[in-house]
Amino acid sequence: MRLGLFDSGVGGFTVLKKVIELCPNTSFVYLADTARLPYGVKKTNEIIQFAEEISSWFKYQNIDAFLVACNTTNAIALDVIKKNLDVPVFDLIGSVASNIQESRVGVLATPSTVRTKAYTNAILEFKPKTFVIEQSCPEFVPMIEANNIYSGEITDVAIRYLQPVLNQKIDSLILGCSHYPLITPLLTEILPSGVELVDPAQALSFQLKLFIDSKISNYSKKKSLVDSRFYVTSNLKNFPIQIKHWLNVFPEVNLVSLQKKGCVS
Ligand code: DGL
Repeated sequence: MRLGLFDSGVGGFTVLKKVIELCPNTSFVYLADTARLPYGVKKTNEIIQFAEEISSWFKYQNIDAFLVACNTTNAIALDVIKKNLDVPVFDLIGSVASNIQESRVGVLATPSTVRTKAYTNAILEFKPKTFVIEQSCPEFVPMIEANNIYSGEITDVAIRYLQPVLNQKIDSLILGCSHYPLITPLLTEILPSGVELVDPAQALSFQLKLFIDSKISNYSKKKSLVDSRFYVTSNLKNFPIQIKHWLNVFPEVNLVSLQKKGCVS
């Protein structure tokens, strides 16, 4: 089974890793829209346009299902992706919201995701009595992309973001940006022991596994990352190094151009 997934950069690797753990016989077409990173501070109409272009590109990639591995796009343009693709689409926000048990939930996400209140709305739809607080974290993605994840600088930033959330006595914290699981060790160090960290990719992987198991006779066994293809919209030189760093493989990476003439500056 070949799965398509995309993110602005390395964040989607956290989704890919969770999926491989639960669904090992899958291969991937991974697209990183590195030319337009970070998505989390972009305007709504820009994200909608990116989603149009990305889903149009994936139409021709011969995939069996699609994973929205970018929360920002998930929050703003899930309907655009679903409309453009004629394969099943799995999303992070819907998957985790249908699974949440806790009564007081914190969400860390990009400014564009927080602006939509997509997490709050999705959780309240399933569990109307849940208390939800969302915190926007604009500085995390550029730091994670630059692999600046062990410094005092990012520790200070993390403490600043977590303080207002922890003041609300939450019992679980959703990592509402796919980049954030890459700083799990740092967040775990700051969080009190009673607060559970929730990676939405876990819930997405469970839903995907149910789907794959229902199709089991129809798909051939693949060797996951070895059979996968990686594409970027820029940064062709460094992205293979980032793949090697986070996924421990060194695949060929190809450059694609998504932008329709005159659409996005
Ligand atoms: N990793 C993406 C997300 O989950 C995008 C982050 C960004 O590019 O700002 O929101």
